[in-house]
Formats: sequence, structure tokens, C-alpha cells
Amino acid sequence: MMFRVRIIDQFIWLISHLPIYAAISFLLIACNTSQERSTPIKNTQTNDFAVASAHPLATQAGINILQQGGNAFDAAVAVTAVLAVVEPYASGLGGGGFWLLHLADSDQNVMVDGREVAPLAATRDMYIGADGKSTDQSVSGPLAAGIPGTAAALVHIAEKYGQLPLSTTLRSAVDLARDGFQVSEYYQSRADAVIKRLSTFPQTADIFLPQGEVPQIGDVLQQSDLAKVLESISKYGVSGFYEGEVANKLVNSVQQAGGIWQLEDLKNYKIIERQPILGNYKNIDIVSAALPSSGGIVLMQVLNMLSAYDLQGMSDTDRKHMIIEAMRRAYHDRAEFLGDEDFVDVPVDKLLSMKYAKTRFSDLNMQFATPSLNLIDQDIVEAFPIVEEAQNTTHFSILDQKGNHVAATLSINYYFGSGFVAEGTGILLNNEMDDFAIQPGHANLWGLIGSEANAIQPGKRMLSSMSPTFLFDGKRTAILGTPGGSRIISMVLLSTLAFSEGATAQEMVQLPRYHHQFLPDEIQFEKGVFNEKTRSALKSKGHALNELGRNYGNMHTVIWNQQTNEVTAASDSRGIGQAQVGTN
Ligand code: DON
Repeated sequence: MMFRVRIIDQFIWLISHLPIYAAISFLLIACNTSQERSTPIKNTQTNDFAVASAHPLATQAGINILQQGGNAFDAAVAVTAVLAVVEPYASGLGGGGFWLLHLADSDQNVMVDGREVAPLAATRDMYIGADGKSTDQSVSGPLAAGIPGTAAALVHIAEKYGQLPLSTTLRSAVDLARDGFQVSEYYQSRADAVIKRLSTFPQTADIFLPQGEVPQIGDVLQQSDLAKVLESISKYGVSGFYEGEVANKLVNSVQQAGGIWQLEDLKNYKIIERQPILGNYKNIDIVSAALPSSGGIVLMQVLNMLSAYDLQGMSDTDRKHMIIEAMRRAYHDRAEFLGDEDFVDVPVDKLLSMKYAKTRFSDLNMQFATPSLNLIDQDIVEAFPIVEEAQNTTHFSILDQKGNHVAATLSINYYFGSGFVAEGTGILLNNEMDDFAIQPGHANLWGLIGSEANAIQPGKRMLSSMSPTFLFDGKRTAILGTPGGSRIISMVLLSTLAFSEGATAQEMVQLPRYHHQFLPDEIQFEKGVFNEKTRSALKSKGHALNELGRNYGNMHTVIWNQQTNEVTAASDSRGIGQAQVGTN
């Protein structure tokens, strides 16, 4: 295919130019950082702690741990585990995610990469049918599931960074799984959306469709098998999930239903600690997710492109046009270059360099939209499915009184993941394999396409958009993130721009949202966020507009003002989450 040829050509070109680029980028980054970086306020202790998460029960569990003297990392374990129980539509032990940690003592940031990996028996074309078209097996059933990382992350964070034992931090989750939690309207609508898939698998229906139906609002949903798995992790650590009884049940059930997991897959699963993406935009220091998340790179690329301009000084239409044009280009590069760096070479330094941003944005036309097809060869394009308007996946933000903080975005991908519960475990498996580029030019659930860089390989992590992020403007630290598939990055971007202009936590989570992801070539926006004037101005520049049927995202933000020592927290009203500030 033309696309592949072009990519190979570009890689050869890149590799031959890499040393020059590396040297230039290094110099640019070095100069840039020393000129622009703000002088940090040296207030390292806070009076308050805060938790903002997608579910009140998870927020409460985090607050309880902080009140008991646990640190932000203990609270992160508790919140992760409770979300795994009360939001089976969004995250869980059958999934993975990224936990961005700030360690106050050493002033270090680290990303705990608990992303799923492709099973050892996975093959590049495993989701392509005999007719050459993609099948739905990357979405539904056990073949859709990558090897989960959340259990390993819980243990890793607790053992390396926490102060409390897992028996304490997992307690609330065990209790809620065993004794049950009350079904909300929000839960009900998510289960309704995928009732067909849930009813396909009897062991899933047993738990989530008692009496063959989604439970009524107020009914208590119990998950006794899941409670036992959580207890097993609390007792035996990593081996309580990845070896022994739980592992055997997972593998047997997957294999019996036609999946390809092996015991070795689980035994081999490893958490990877990664250096987050660091950047600076107009005096805001940014710490965000590194590969295998595209989040930090795409976010920084857009910000680098915008940094030369005075967004506040321009008209509303020009500002939106410019932001959209920067998104278009950065999402193009996502599709072309990004994948798991442990398997493919990704020109990260080049993509993050200011020189590259300038070149990338040099064809910006303020009068007219640049058609995305001008950026690529025509033949990669197939029909794009409508991007799903989901609010699955989850995010939480935590700050403790020592100044440690955590931003974590966790997923099983689509609502209730693959819909497949491994018999006897209560664990819903993810359908994260769909985040691989399963065929060049084929769009995934989020309408994203990819290249060889994100092709399936055994043991490889699929490219993600999850973008837990820290921002620092010299006075205020913001801890943020959201679910939303491909739109995660543009939501974090818009909130970063708002933060740079002084927005509060509440303003950041409530911001009206719009998005461009290169393909489909259209501006997607939440219902009603563009008025008639903006619509016609953008249309006259040649933009296609797609007003979505409803809102998207579910952002949770904590802000710590280190000058006044005030802590504020906010949860997106699009969800049912809760933000709470407390003190000991
Ligand atoms: O890792 C990713 O980018 C996706 N699996 C996240 C999915 C998601 O956010 C869905 N939420 N609406």
C-alpha cells in the first residue's frame, strides 16, 4: 500500500537524519527550557488532601485512606480497586491503564505503565477475515482481550510507593464486591447500551443481567467471585492474580471460549515504569503520559505548534481554527509514527522539538482549513465508522498533604470491555486489542487509524490516548485527565490552554469541548457548544462540522495553589463523579 511505502521512505529518511535532529532538538529544548521555565514556588506541604474520581464510592474510599494516614499512592490503590468494582462498564482487573505519580520527597515524576499487552499467540492479521475485511473479534469476546495490567499496577504501587498494606487499601473494594453496591441510572444506561453483548456470555449475564435484565435503579449488584480475586491479590500480591488459581481460571475460561491466552502470558506480565513526557507551554510545565500512550506526545505537539501565537489576542473563530489545525496535524503524526517504543522506533525527540512544530505548522492557512487528505496518500482511506460517543474508561486525581499526587486513567476500552467474564473470576475482560491498528487504514472504535508502528505483535502494548497529566504554572499544580477515547487528548489540551489562562478546576472540567483527529476530516463538538456565528465562520473556512448527539468526557481535576496553599477539586457534571477536599 502507498501508505506503507511512504512510511518506510520516511523512516529511512528519518533514521539517516536522526543524529542531526537529535542534536538540534537537544539544543532547542535546552535553550527553550532555561528561558521559559517558571520559578517554582517552594511550598511543598499542603494543609489539605483531595480526591476527585468518577464515582462517589471511590472518592470516599480514597478520602478514608488519606484520613487513616495513607499517602496519595495508597489512596490511588484504593480508588483504582473500588472503581474496578463499581464501574464495571469502565475499568477493572480485566483491564489496564496509566498511573502518573509525583513523588514529593524527590520531586520526581514517574508513569506506571499497566497497559495491556498482546498475548504471545497474537498475530498481526488475527482480526482480518478470509474476505480481507476486519472481523468484530477485536471488540467482542475473549479474543479481543489483551493481558491485563491493573492487578500488577495495584501491587506495584502499593509495594513500592504506599505505606499501608494491600489488606487495608483493598478493603473497601472487597466489601463493595462482596456486599454489593446500588445500581444508578448512569450504570443502567451503560449496561443497556451493550445488553446484547452481555447476554452473549452466560457467565457475564449471571452477574450483570440477573433475571435476564439490567438491574433496576437501587438494586444491589454483588460480585462475589470478584471479591475473592481482590482478596487473593491482597493476600498473595502479583501471584494472587497472575499465577495459581485465578490465573488458571482466566486461561481455562478464555481458551474454552476460543481465546488465545496462555499461563505464560500472565506469568510474563510486567509493569513498566516510564519517564513521562515533559514539556513547557508559555510558562506552564507539563508532565503527561509517555508511549505506549500517544497522549503526552500529541498534547505537546499541539502546544508546541500553538506556542508562537497569541491565542487570547485573536478572534474566537481564529483561535478555534488554529487549535483545530494544530490538532489535525498532531493526530496525523499519531497515526503515522506512534506505537509501542519497545517494539518500533518512534522519532519522539523529533516530534517533540520546537523546530519540527514550526515546520509542521508552516502550511497553516488562517483563511482555509487544510484538507486532511492533503496530508496523506488517498488510498489509506476506507469508510470510517461513526466514532462512538462513549463515556466509558475512567480517571481520578489525588493529592496528599505531603504534596504527592497521582493522575490515573484506566480502561477496559468499550462499555463492559469485551463483554466476556472469565468463569469463576467475576472479571470482565477488556477489548483493548482494538486499540492496535488491526489493518492499515482501518479505523478503530474511536475512528482512529494507525500504521505499522501500531501493528499487532506478541507482547506489544497497543497505542493509547489516555493522558493523565500534571500542569504547573509556577504557583498552581493541576492534576487532571478524562476518559473519551481519541478525544481524551483534545479535552486535556483544551483544559491545559484554559489553565494557562487562569481557569479554575471547576472551569477546566466544565469547558465546552470540540475535537479534530485528522480523520475523519471534521470538527466534532458537543451539542450546542458552537453558536450560529461560529458555525458559519468555520464552515466558510472549509471545515466540516459534526455536532455530536451528546456530551463526552468525564474529567476530574485537583488544583493545589502552592502560593496560597489552597486546594480545590472538581468532577465533571457530565458524569456522576465526586470531588472532595479533606484535612487531617
Ligand atoms: O486507551 C485508549 O486510548 C482507549 N482504550 C480509551 C477508551 C476510552 O477512553 C473510552 N472512553 N470513552
